[in-house]
Amino acid sequence: MFVAANWKMNLDKNSIFEFSKHLNNFKFSSKVEACIFPPMTYIDYLYNLIKNLPISVGGQNCHFKSSGAFTGEVSANFLKDTGCEYVLVGHSERRILNNENNAEIKSRAQTAINSNLKVILCVGERLTDREEGKALEYIEKQINDCLPNNFKNLIIAYEPIWAIGSNQTPSLGEIENVHGYIKKFFLKNYDVKNICVIYGGSVNLNNSKDIFKTKNVDGGLIGGASLKADDFKKIYDNLK
Ligand code: PGA
Repeated sequence: MFVAANWKMNLDKNSIFEFSKHLNNFKFSSKVEACIFPPMTYIDYLYNLIKNLPISVGGQNCHFKSSGAFTGEVSANFLKDTGCEYVLVGHSERRILNNENNAEIKSRAQTAINSNLKVILCVGERLTDREEGKALEYIEKQINDCLPNNFKNLIIAYEPIWAIGSNQTPSLGEIENVHGYIKKFFLKNYDVKNICVIYGGSVNLNNSKDIFKTKNVDGGLIGGASLKADDFKKIYDNLK
C-alpha cells in the first residue's frame, strides 16, 4: 500500500520541522510505502530531516526539459539530486491553473522517468463528465495521452477533480469501479498486472479506513488532511 502527502503550497520551515518531529513517533510498517511532497523550496530541508526514516520525499511537479532557459521551473534532475524518489505529474490543480495539457504532462512524465524518478500520474474526471456518464472515457483518454514510453514503477492517482478539497468523495463502489477499470486498461494494453492505483480527493480521518479497504485501492494521495502530523499518522495507520 502507498500513501502520499501532497502539501501543495502549505507549511513553512518551522511547521515542517515540527511535523518531522512527529514522524519519529510513527510506527512504520513494511506494508506501507510513504512519500511526502513538500513545497519545492523545502525538499532538501525535509529530506535531511527524515532521511533515516522509511519515508521518502517527492516533487509536486517537474519541467518537461531537463535543463535550459526556463525561468522559475524545476528540473527532474534537480529533484533527483535533492533526494526525491517520486514526482507528481498532471495534478488537476496544475492542469487547470497552469494550463498543462496531456501532451505536456506526458513530456514531464517522460523527463522524470529519464531522470530515474518514479512518477505518480494524476488523472480524474470533471463533474460534468461524471454527470454525462463519460468519466471512464475521460480518464482512459488522459492515461492514453499522458503515458510515457517505457514506464516503470508508475503509480496512477485517481483524483476526481470535483472531490479535491471539497469534502465530497465518490461512493466506495464508484472508486472500486474506476480503479478496476484502470487496472484492466493496463492489463489489456500493456500486460501490466500489478499497476498501483491510489485514490485522492477529500480523503480524511473518517473516510480513509473504508476507502483503503475498498477493492482495487492501493493507497491514497492526501492533501488537506496530510498537513497535520497526527492526522496523517492516523491515516497512515489505517493503511496497515
Ligand atoms: P485533498 O487534496 O485531499 O485536499 O482533497 C488531494 C490532492 O489534491 O492531491
